[in-house]
Amino acid sequence: MQQKIKKIINKKNKSKIVSLTAYSKNIATILDDFCDIILVGDSLGSVLYNYKSTREVSLDTMIEHSKSVRMGIKKSLMVVDMPHNTYRNSKEALKNAKKIMSKTKCDAVKLEGGKKISQIVRTLVKNNIPVMGHLGLLPQSDKNFKFKGKKIFEKNKILKDAKLLETAGAFSIVLECVETSLAKIVTKKIDIPTIGIGSSNNCDGQILVFDDFIGLNPIDVRFVKKYSNIKKVMTNAVSNYAKDVRKKVFPLKKHSYN
Ligand code: KIV
Repeated sequence: MQQKIKKIINKKNKSKIVSLTAYSKNIATILDDFCDIILVGDSLGSVLYNYKSTREVSLDTMIEHSKSVRMGIKKSLMVVDMPHNTYRNSKEALKNAKKIMSKTKCDAVKLEGGKKISQIVRTLVKNNIPVMGHLGLLPQSDKNFKFKGKKIFEKNKILKDAKLLETAGAFSIVLECVETSLAKIVTKKIDIPTIGIGSSNNCDGQILVFDDFIGLNPIDVRFVKKYSNIKKVMTNAVSNYAKDVRKKVFPLKKHSYN
């Protein structure tokens, strides 16, 4: 097992795992000093491309953004989402995961699902491709974007799926919008770390979508704490630039060549 992966697993019950998404080099460079894991999430479909769902994201788009992110990372573990319809069976998953790993030089891939993909996870891990799981709300397949785990059948399924993913060899599991007490149970019952998004502080780590927490995404979501209002900062900068150009105070002599 890769040293970097072992380091993440060893954090369980010792220190919280910090994770954020990045889709480009400059952002990854900022995150790298502070994060344990940087995820190139297929959330880029809605964040950058205005797609209705992540189901529209292609493998090539994920690879191009990941190549950019790779250039900004020196120490964090880099995980890349396998997009929808790229892991429908073990053969397809292995071919596409190998492509992602070789073209982007990432450390691991992330797949959504439980029992349905546990054999696929086993195949990837056997082929030395580290896998992060993803349970709870599954944007690639769920029709209803509500939190999960209130109903008893959901509770049992998520817990069972988490154990199956662990047995299949996943090194960690993202829990998206999982009810607080269930997040606690799952985290306690498995030996690999859980990374929560909208799943309370009962998880071993946290992840947020970068554009959400810096205040670029206009939509307010309950589980997102906005750590900055970068939209305001950017708007001021653009407004000042426009004023300067119109008043002819930019560019000055010092910005020009002679
Ligand atoms: O695509 C993504 O950004 C994700 C996170 C929400 C975990 O999967």
